Amino acid sequence: MLKVSIVGVTGYGGGELARLLGRRPDVQLLELVGRSAAGQPLGNVFPSLAPLGLTINQGDQLERPEEADFVFLALPHHASAEKAAEILERAPQTRVIDLSADFRLRDVPTYEQWYGHHPAPYLVREAVYGLPELYRDKLTANTRLVANPGCYPTCSALALAPALKGQPIVEPDVIVNALSGTSGAGREVKPYLHFSEQNESANAYGLAPGGHRHMPELKQILDDQYGASVDVLFTPHLMPMTRGMLATCYARLTPEFLAGHRDPKTVNTALRELYREFYKNDPFVVVAESSPTTKQVLGSNYCYVYPTADLRTGRLVAIAVIDNLTKGAAGEAVQNMNIIAGLPETTGLAQTAIYP
Ligand SMILES: NC(=O)c1ccc[n+]([C@@H]2O[C@H](COP(=O)([O-])OP(=O)(O)OC[C@H]3O[C@@H](n4cnc5c(N)ncnc54)[C@H](OP(=O)(O)O)[C@@H]3O)[C@@H](O)[C@H]2O)c1
Repeated sequence: MLKVSIVGVTGYGGGELARLLGRRPDVQLLELVGRSAAGQPLGNVFPSLAPLGLTINQGDQLERPEEADFVFLALPHHASAEKAAEILERAPQTRVIDLSADFRLRDVPTYEQWYGHHPAPYLVREAVYGLPELYRDKLTANTRLVANPGCYPTCSALALAPALKGQPIVEPDVIVNALSGTSGAGREVKPYLHFSEQNESANAYGLAPGGHRHMPELKQILDDQYGASVDVLFTPHLMPMTRGMLATCYARLTPEFLAGHRDPKTVNTALRELYREFYKNDPFVVVAESSPTTKQVLGSNYCYVYPTADLRTGRLVAIAVIDNLTKGAAGEAVQNMNIIAGLPETTGLAQTAIYP
């Protein structure tokens, strides 16, 4: 039986963790921390989770971190790093899986450029970047700290990695347009997320000249895959839907690939074969036969990827969809826990999407 605690259970990421873990016969939810609902039934905060019969801690702290095998942190950046440092100091045997951005970037100055002062830079080197499809061999029984990836980097990197790794079929210069549902912004009330402002509306954001803060994380992954620097132009968009993320990624196909694939009738089959080979050992990646929808992954840990070629412009167009709260956050975090604990990766996560 794995003993598991969740900090930040009153937020969307924390609530999704409780949903995924609350009925597992091999998991005991030891402590739930949520400062705005201390001492209350979790069902008061998320009525959909009432049947789990769970209660949030009286105080706003973990009381017994040393008793937990895993602690999930579903907190904003900075608060998360402070909490991770505190837990690992007090309970060095406990594993921490952090959903925030605090330990994702290996280079602390790059982190500080985007997020400000790092509260625990000495832990960055120890953190393992938990995108299992691309870094599974780094997740071992000795991993103490997991930097759970962002939803945008998860979705975009899974769309592009097969084209960049090994014998690259694209040039190292990619453009990513990604769409997110509003739950990606968390549960905290913000005026731009009011129904009356978000409904029937869509917008691009994070258009600073230096790019969006998820860009360096995506670049770090793509650089690792390619083995050298990849130029990344990333533009996020907010969509009038609750959950879901879709990334449309563009890159110029190499002359070698184009020379061997001039036939529009067969090029997409060849791309799908390449992607299927790349993901043949990854139970959560489905190489789709047609352009996927966010509804196809709703509430599931699956990522559907669909590579296609535009031979007129000589470009790869690779599309991926995930549920931002599941494969983009809590589901991926549970996948990481399963791997570190030596369990089948799909334990508790194999259910397909709610559809329609
Ligand atoms: N939402 C997504 O799709 C998504 C995807 C990938 C990663 N993430 C990351 O996951 C983390 C959680 O995101 P979320 O969407 O779940 O956010 P959220 O809905 O806003 O929830 C945040 C949680 O953190 C708690 N909290 C906020 N400030 C705190 C502080 N200073 N000290 C202690 N607790 C604090 C909140 O508690 P109270 O409300 O009870 O005060 C709440 O439980 C973030 O780092 C986010 O970037 C989110």
